[in-house]
Amino acid sequence: MAKKYYITTPIYYANSRLHIGHAYSTIACDVVKKWHTLFGRECFFLTGMDEHGEKIFLSAKEKNIQPQEWVDRMAEDAKKLWKFLNISYDDFIRTTEPRHEKTVQYIFKKIAQKGDIYKGVYSGPYCVSCESYFTEAQVRDAGGNCPDCGRPITEIKREEAYFFRLSKYQTKLLKFYEENPDFLMPKDKANKTLDTVKSGLRDLCLTRQNLEWGIPNPLEEGMTIYVWFDALINYVSAIGYPCNLEKFNEIWPADCHVVGKEIFHFHTVIWPAMLMALDLELPKMVFGHGWWTIKSEKMSKSKGNIITPYEICEKYHPDVLRYFFMREVPFGQDGAFTEQRISERYTSDLANSLGNLFRRVETMCVKYFDGRSPCSGKVNEKFLKKMEKIIQEGEKQILTLKFSRILEGIWEIIDETNAYIEQEKPWTLKKENPQKLQDVMETLLTVLNFLKDVLYPFLPEKSKEMSQHLGFEISKPQARNFPFNKKVPGGEVLFPVEK
Ligand code: MSP
Repeated sequence: MAKKYYITTPIYYANSRLHIGHAYSTIACDVVKKWHTLFGRECFFLTGMDEHGEKIFLSAKEKNIQPQEWVDRMAEDAKKLWKFLNISYDDFIRTTEPRHEKTVQYIFKKIAQKGDIYKGVYSGPYCVSCESYFTEAQVRDAGGNCPDCGRPITEIKREEAYFFRLSKYQTKLLKFYEENPDFLMPKDKANKTLDTVKSGLRDLCLTRQNLEWGIPNPLEEGMTIYVWFDALINYVSAIGYPCNLEKFNEIWPADCHVVGKEIFHFHTVIWPAMLMALDLELPKMVFGHGWWTIKSEKMSKSKGNIITPYEICEKYHPDVLRYFFMREVPFGQDGAFTEQRISERYTSDLANSLGNLFRRVETMCVKYFDGRSPCSGKVNEKFLKKMEKIIQEGEKQILTLKFSRILEGIWEIIDETNAYIEQEKPWTLKKENPQKLQDVMETLLTVLNFLKDVLYPFLPEKSKEMSQHLGFEISKPQARNFPFNKKVPGGEVLFPVEK
């Protein structure tokens, strides 16, 4: 059986409400999932929640409820949000599920048996908020603060702990990056990873004492497993490792782990080393996307500048948010999130270009052909070629997550089709050249039919509306003639603008 394309989002921390930053990664993966499915390929899309660790424990405590109850609520909220945003994931993994916990303990023991996990003593500065140990030098450079979140470091921890022999994998990792140039994506993010690994890797502390909200260390009581070791394993525990190897082998290795740039290191250094220790194949690609910023700052709970998708969707359809995310900045770069830009995109791209095109063609169809598609029309060659090009290039671009490029290509044809109407002036052809009018109409309906298909991953609900307007189901995008004498029902304005 052919291997399924496997794409994953990060599993989000269950300690605060999900915001548009989280929605961004999830929507991107969903576009990929919908694209492959549309083209008839099997794709497995995984998302989920990261439910262990001190931060989550503290959040629950603050609310005066049990951590399990707290994470249950958070997982329900996340599922609701994904439904609202039309996300078609195949599985939702939670790190408190037995299927995950068992796998984590199995992997811990397996790597220990191999000799790559050993017992020692750890001592060092520790950031409670990030749940990370740092070196003295890192904390000194950050002025006594956490190099990640900037909060003061108040704890030095010294305790017996288990370590992962990350240092052992330095050479192997470097060789892997060299032999797999598409692993670190986008390319401009690769250098930082290479420099970090070249400068030497320290073994990673894998256990915590006195933190009960975690997976117990299977080798020693009184210790729980470090959240990142636990969390990364979700990508294999969810697909059956090690209990259901048949399923696992249909899906693994991951084709693409989509992550925000701040967690690129965990996915490109620690995770591959863990997989090497397990003798498992490595993912094909880790894609570190950029951040949405609010007034030049990253959105975060601690800064209090969070925007949730629900707030945006009070005014705009969820498809509009999806379109904005995919179109506004190349995936990989940062972008400024402003309502002004969403509104501009809405008016120019969606209402004026796309929505208007549908309106014009539907009106002409009623006026000149009684609401049916014309017989024996010929589709303009230039448009057929353009559609084929969009498909060919899109099929490549989707593999490297070049969403904005795909959309630029699609909007070129939308603009050209609007210009074609101006140029051909169908309103003059009715009397002067009825045959030509049929050809023009056939071309227009063919393009519209193509648009409703190819836009499905980017505007899933609006595409369905387009398909109702045209009286045609959504199917694999092709440059094919619109069939003869078919009813074109039309419908409400696709992207209304308030006057
Ligand atoms: N739990 C870890 C991930 C473990 S994966 C094995 C985690 N969770 S998180 O809740 O903090 O989510 C981080 C992810 O949310 C980022 O990697 C990114 O995908 C997304 N984003 C959070 N804020 C964002 C922006 N402001 N902009 C874009 N995406 C951001 O880290």
